[in-house]
Amino acid sequence: MTQPTRTFRNDKLRSLAAKKGIEPVSALTAYDYAVARILDEAGVDIILVGDSLGMMVFGHKDTTQVTVNMMTHHVKACRDATTRSLLVADLPYQSYQDEKQSLETARELVKAGAEAVKLEGGKAVAPQIKTILSANIPVFGHIGMLPQQVKQEGGYKKKGKTDIEAEALVEDARQLDKAGVSAIILENIVSSLAKEITRITNAPTIGIGSGKDCDGQILVINDLLGSYPWFRPPFAEPKADVASETTKAVKQFVAELSNPTRS
Ligand code: KIV
Repeated sequence: MTQPTRTFRNDKLRSLAAKKGIEPVSALTAYDYAVARILDEAGVDIILVGDSLGMMVFGHKDTTQVTVNMMTHHVKACRDATTRSLLVADLPYQSYQDEKQSLETARELVKAGAEAVKLEGGKAVAPQIKTILSANIPVFGHIGMLPQQVKQEGGYKKKGKTDIEAEALVEDARQLDKAGVSAIILENIVSSLAKEITRITNAPTIGIGSGKDCDGQILVINDLLGSYPWFRPPFAEPKADVASETTKAVKQFVAELSNPTRS
């Protein structure tokens, strides 16, 4: 049976907008029911089914192999766990190359259960953003380091170091704001510039690796939990060591099987 399309919860979007400059916005990624439910019950404002699932769930090197089907599968896994938090989903690589395609992809994600979609880029994707918004689908912007462009960029680099780059980012943020996005992710941007973008935009900014002066912060859940020990971004301070705890529990389980009398 097809799941009904989720009705938009404008109260969640209103409370997100109301936090600008007043209360920090919290955002974390989730890719499955259990994690999404824990985040929702813990009171996180935004749950992002990020295309970082390419790396965190599938072990890919970057996000460029993630497809719309992979995204809808994980949005469906998170939808029933999400009541209080706003469920946002990424439009994956090359799924929003023009207005028509971007609207089709956004509709697929909404049908799967997303309450808003996010896409990477500034003024270059403004037409796509306006088209999705005109279909009443809330949109999050994402500027700075764009993980879907990592191959073209030659790595994960800090953005906004030169005047030209900083001016372009300010212009991108203005265009997204003018288009009417619900929030703007600022990834790996020089912190003084992230602060300035936060000052000039109406939409809340949500930083990742962009300093403390954004309206909120987002992290990949595995980086917060220490559950992906093979790579840890320098800006993410893990608050748990789930990888070590898991190894310990598994070793104990295996040892107790070989020596049941000692358990
Ligand atoms: O895919 C993702 O996880 C993101 C981030 C902003 C964390 O886009």
